[in-house]
Amino acid sequence: MDAAALLDATHAPMVLIGSDERIAAANSAAEAVFGPGIQGQHYITALRHPVLLDCIEGAIGTQQPRSTRFPARDSVRDTTYIATAAPIAGQAGVLLFLEDVSHIEEASQMRRDFVANVSHELRSPLTALLGFIETLRGPARDDREAQDRFLEIMGREAERMNRLIQDLLSLSQVEAEERRPPTGQVDVTSLVTSASEALEPQAQERGVELGISGADSPLHVRGSPDQLAQIFTNLIENAVKYGGDSATVEISALDHDPELQGPAVRVTVEDNGDGIDQLHIPRLTERFYRVDTHRSREMGGTGLGLAIVKHILNRHRGRLRISSEPGKGSRFTVILPHQGS
Ligand SMILES: Nc1ncnc2c1ncn2[C@@H]1O[C@H](COP(=O)(O)OP(=O)(O)OP(=O)(O)O)[C@@H](O)[C@H]1O
Ligand SMILES: [Mg+2]
Repeated sequence: MDAAALLDATHAPMVLIGSDERIAAANSAAEAVFGPGIQGQHYITALRHPVLLDCIEGAIGTQQPRSTRFPARDSVRDTTYIATAAPIAGQAGVLLFLEDVSHIEEASQMRRDFVANVSHELRSPLTALLGFIETLRGPARDDREAQDRFLEIMGREAERMNRLIQDLLSLSQVEAEERRPPTGQVDVTSLVTSASEALEPQAQERGVELGISGADSPLHVRGSPDQLAQIFTNLIENAVKYGGDSATVEISALDHDPELQGPAVRVTVEDNGDGIDQLHIPRLTERFYRVDTHRSREMGGTGLGLAIVKHILNRHRGRLRISSEPGKGSRFTVILPHQGS
C-alpha cells in the first residue's frame, strides 16, 4: 500500500522518515505545518524546528519513542502540538506524528486566568478589611466616631465579597445546568414587571426614569423563573447603573424570529447613557469583563452579570443582542422561544 495515501487517511499531521533519513511520505496535514513538497528532503532541512529534530534524533538513536511539546505558528493562529517520533518495528524508519493539544492548553490558561481574576477581586476588599481591623485595634481604639465610620466601610467591603461569592456560585450552577433544558412554564411579562419594580428604588436614588411598555398580557416561555428573573434584573440594573437618566423596558411577542425559526418573546432594555464602544461589545459577556473597571467596582459590580446572562440564555435556547451608539445609549435585547399565551 502507498504510504502517503495511508497517512492521508488521518487529519493529524504525520511524516514518515525513511532509513536514509529523508522524508519518505508526508500527509497534507503535515504539509500544512511544514510547507508543501517536503517529500524527498532530509528531515533536518524539511522540519527545521530544533525540538523536533532532537526528538527524532533521540528516537533513531535509542530506537524508543520520544515525545516533545511543539508550539507551531502560522499566519492564522498558534497551535500547540505534542509531537511523537516512533521507530517503526523491524524497519529503519521513524514515524513522526503531531497531536493538536491547543484546546487543552487554552482550557488550562482559562482556568489560570479565572483563578487570578477571582483572587484579584477578593484581594482588594480583604486588604481594606485587614487594614481597618488593624486601625480599630490601634490608633482608633478609643475613637467612637472613627469606629462607626470604619465599621460602615467594612460592612460595604464585606458586602462586596459576599456579592462576588454569590455571583460565582450562581455562575457555576448555571454552567452545570446548561445542558439540561428547563421544564417549567413562566410568564415573561410578570417576571420583567417585578424585576423592574424591584429596581425602582435604585433608579429613583440615581435619578433615572424607568419606564416599561408592552406589559399588558402574559407571554409564556419554557424556563426557570429564578434564572430568567436574574437575566432581566441584571439588564435593567445595568441600564440604571451605566445608562443615562432614562431607561425603557419593552416586552413584545414576535410571530417569527428568523434565528429561532419560530415565535419568540422579545425583551428590550434601552438606555440613553454614554453607550459602549463597538470594540467592547463582543467581550461584554466574558467573565469579569468591564468597560470601565473602576466605575463598575464603585457601583459594586463584579463583571459577572452578563456572563451569567449568557449561560442562562444558552440553557433556555435564547439569544442576547447588544447594540450601542456611543454618546446616545445602549440596547440589550433578549429573545426567547415563545410557548404561546
Ligand atoms: N447599559 C449599559 N451601558 C453601558 N455599559 C454597560 C451597560 N451594561 C453593561 N455595561 C458594561 O458591561 C460591563 C459588564 O456588565 P456586567 O453586568 O457583566 O457586570 P457589572 O454590572 O459590572 O457587574 P454585576 O452585573 O456582576 O453586578 C459593565 O461593567 C459595564 O462596563
Ligand atoms: Mg451587571
